[in-house]
Formats: sequence, C-alpha cells, structure tokens
Amino acid sequence: AIIVLDFGSQYSRLITRRVRESHVYSELVPANTTLAELQQKPYLDIKGFILSGGPSSVYDDDAPICDPAILQSGLPILGICYGMHILANQLGGHVAPAQGRREYGPATIDVPPNAGDDEQAFRIFAGLAEQFGASKQDSLHLPVWMSHGDSVDQLPAGFRVLACTESNPVAVIAHPQGLIGLQFHPEVTHTKQGKELINNFLFRICACAGDWTSGSVIEETVEQIRSRIGSERVLCALSGGVDSAVAALLIHRAVGDQLTCVFVDTGCLRAGEREQVVETFSGHLHIPLVVVDAKRRFLARLADVVDPEQKRKIIGEEFIRVFEEEAERLAEQKGPIAFLAQGTLYPDVIESTSHDTASTAKRIKTHHNVGGLPEDIKFKLVEPLRTLFKDEVREIGQALGLPEEWVWRHPFPGPGLAIRVIGPVDEGRLDVLRAADKVVIEEIRKAGIYRELGQAFAVLTPIQSVGVMGDGRTYANVVAVRAVTTGDFMTADWARLSPDLLARISHRLVNEVPGVNRVVYDITSKPPATIEWE
Ligand code: XMP
Repeated sequence: AIIVLDFGSQYSRLITRRVRESHVYSELVPANTTLAELQQKPYLDIKGFILSGGPSSVYDDDAPICDPAILQSGLPILGICYGMHILANQLGGHVAPAQGRREYGPATIDVPPNAGDDEQAFRIFAGLAEQFGASKQDSLHLPVWMSHGDSVDQLPAGFRVLACTESNPVAVIAHPQGLIGLQFHPEVTHTKQGKELINNFLFRICACAGDWTSGSVIEETVEQIRSRIGSERVLCALSGGVDSAVAALLIHRAVGDQLTCVFVDTGCLRAGEREQVVETFSGHLHIPLVVVDAKRRFLARLADVVDPEQKRKIIGEEFIRVFEEEAERLAEQKGPIAFLAQGTLYPDVIESTSHDTASTAKRIKTHHNVGGLPEDIKFKLVEPLRTLFKDEVREIGQALGLPEEWVWRHPFPGPGLAIRVIGPVDEGRLDVLRAADKVVIEEIRKAGIYRELGQAFAVLTPIQSVGVMGDGRTYANVVAVRAVTTGDFMTADWARLSPDLLARISHRLVNEVPGVNRVVYDITSKPPATIEWE
C-alpha cells in the first residue's frame, strides 16, 4: 500500500483516490500516525508514503510534523506542498515564510534536461519528454497547479532542485534515495501530467505492482466462495450496515439463491431501516430475504433494564435465539443450511489474531453485532470480506449495485437505539428517539456534511426539564445530539457543527418531536468519553 499522511489539505482524499485509480491500494491516515503504528498492520505492505499538503505553515506553533521514523524509513516519500516543506524542514533544510506573498493557481514548471536520469527519485519525470515529443536534451515545461505561501529556500543535505517556476526557484526537489518534494499539486486535474507524475512515483520509484482493482477482487472472491460453498445453502444475517450487505451480495453473485438473508427487526432500529432493507434486498437486488419481526420479544426482555451492559447482553442473547430459531425453520422448509456468512473484514481478522492477544486493555463495553454469533454455532463459516479493507468493501458494494447511500452509511451499533435511550427502554421512548434521530440525520445530510462525519445521532436522556411553549409550561425530555469526526472509531473528536446547523436541528427537534423540549450538544471527545453514551 501507499500511505498518505493527511496534513489537512482539501485534496488529501483525492490523492488516495488517484493512487487507487492506478490500481495501487492506498490509505489516508492522520498526520501524526507513527511508523510503529503502521508496522502493527503488516498486511499494509507499505511501499511508500505521500505527505499531503495542508493549511499550516511549518512556522505555526501547532504545525503538524511527520514521525521522523517515517522520514528515516528508507521507503520512498513524495511530499506535496506542505508535505514538501515538512521534508525540507525536518531533514535540515529551510523553508522561507510567505511574507504575504502567495503563489496560487496555474503556473509552469521548467524541468531542465537530465532531471529524469537514472537515480531513483529523478525518475519522477521519466517518460514525460517523450510524451511531449521532445528529446532528452530539451527542457520540459509542465503546466501545474500551485497553492502555497511558504517555499523551500535551503535544501536538506543530499537533495537537488529538479524544477523551478518563474517566481519560485525551488518547485521540485529530490534526494536520490527516493525522497521527492513537489511544490505543486499533482493530484488535481489542473496539473495536466499529474497522473503521469503520480504513476512515476508509484511504479518507477516505489515499484508498486498495480494489481489492485475492485473488479479483480470481486472475480477472485466470487470464485473462492463458489468453490467453498458448492451446492450447499448459506444464511446471512443482515445488519443494515455495509459489511453484511456486501458479504451477501458477493455470496449471491457466487451461488445465487442458495443464499437466504435474514433481517431481524429488534424494535430498536432507526426510522425506515427495515423498509429500506426490504426495498433494497428484495426489491432492488432480488436476493431472498426473510424479515423476522421480533420487536415484542426484545422489548419484553428489555423492560425496566437500565444497566448498559445488561442491555447489550440481553440483545446479544436474544438475537442469537431468534436467529437460530429462524435457521431451523428455514431448514425444515427448504432443506439443511450448512453455512453462515459473516462480514468480517481483514483488519478485524488481523487485530483479533495479532501479537497483542495478551493485551491488558480493559473492556469498556461489550460490542455486540449481528456477525458476533457464538463459536459453537452449528454452521460452517464463510467470510468473503476476510481479505478486504473497509474502503474496498465500499467500492465493491458500489460495483455490485448497492445504493450509494447505503455504501456510505455511518456505522450503527448492533444493540441499536436501545443503547441510545438512556435508562429504561420502551416503545414510547424508542419512538421519540427514532423521530429525533431522523431529524438530526436529515439536517446533517441537507448541510452536505454527512460523509465528513464518522457518526451522528440523537440520544434520548432520562432527564426532564421545564420549558415554555405557547403560554404553557412543558416538562419534557432532553435530547442530546452527538456528531463526531474519526478515522478509526478508536478515538474521535466532537464535530464542530456550525451554529446555524445546530440551531436548525434544535428548532426542529423541539417543534417536531413530541416529548422533547430541550436540546444539548455533546462536546466531549473520545477519550475520555466514548462515541455512544452507553
Ligand atoms: P464507542 O461507543 O465504544 O463506539 O466509542 C465505537 C464504535 O463502535 C460502535 N459500537 C458498536 N458496534 N456493536 C456494534 O456493532 C456494538 O455493540 C457497538 N457498540 C458501539 C459505535 O457506534 C461506534 O461506531
């Protein structure tokens, strides 16, 4: 993989996209990610790094820096804009502060002949002269897109300038061992040869194989599933999330209607969720689906339960019971079922089997999800996503016809709304929360920031507060709104939603959701809080 360190550029995600378009797997990680952290994921097989641009100046007090171990790793590094300043600054060169002067927009870089000679880093311009019909003896003039204030004015030891612009003598720098700094943005289409430059980095400098495609992954996986399952029947529990949906789609492609999907309505689902599952799977994708209405059972068992762990335990157990009963019923109807499908991802596999099995991490909360069925279950397992990453799963889902909205849906915990109704759970309180949650999500979608957020939702607190509506006193519930940004859900920050958006959410909640007369916004990060309230 190529690891893109995100220094905050609006183009960071675009860089990973460009790399993947060249059939090389790429992941975007926060700027402060360390080499040691990345090495804990050996499956990444890192071939090189890209340091993105960013809004900071290396002179800002809180300017993000790069883990020095990454710079010393010996792996090729492409620094773009701020990423180039990081290379220069951290490796002992010097960056000139902007002094109010910015280079923004189109520019032309001049690459003197022989910039693309044989040393590793200099291959960044390889093949471009030929493309222009120029000979190796001519200078190259490439249109690029600039957007920067600071610029490099002293090179770190061992670096060479490979190109300049009219106003900037240091537009491209390189160290023979594969460290390259570009002052411009190769990832944007305004840089016409950007794709070639990125490809040169990927293939001539990092020696990537370029064999990553969701298409080839689909073919391979479908073939594997087919040979594993043969003519047996498979059951897949759908959660409404992207993983189980994509697992089901792959299996259906492999063995058709030997697959039956089961969706359990626990009564703790979000507004319209059950309908959406039916519409998408039965209606749109034509995959055999059984919906089990188990609301009564779940609500009866949850009655008066307040303790969060107790709620989780009850829902987990009840889920397994319902699922096993349904499996038996289906087996009686249509013959035995040999396989159970699970949406386990590659990182889950690695993380649960890796070195730190002796981890002393405390159990914060028991995570239950529909994939988390007990080990003694009488099925063989089929886990088609076992070798895939979340991003690949999304891409495959899209390629297999899963609606875009589904592909990008925020995660939703297995115990559902039961752990977002704080205190005792009953149908009435679930209805209030469902209505509140719908408003929050609608407004966040309308504001166009749904995808930027890791998760957003409403929490129904057990607190009642006094209010005034019309001329009357109200005494009703407080709803908390939670919205977080996060990469891996292990840590998260509360999202800086705009005051206007918060105002719209609050206004609608109080006016449209009966039983709610006050709204608060949760401004706690994880840690010390968790994302969910229970
Ligand atoms: P916390 O609240 O622990 O949540 O910060 C981290 C992420 O996990 C989700 N979550 C769950 N997912 N079953 C799941 O499948 C669960 O029991 C569960 N509990 C929390 C949570 O929504 C967040 O995305």
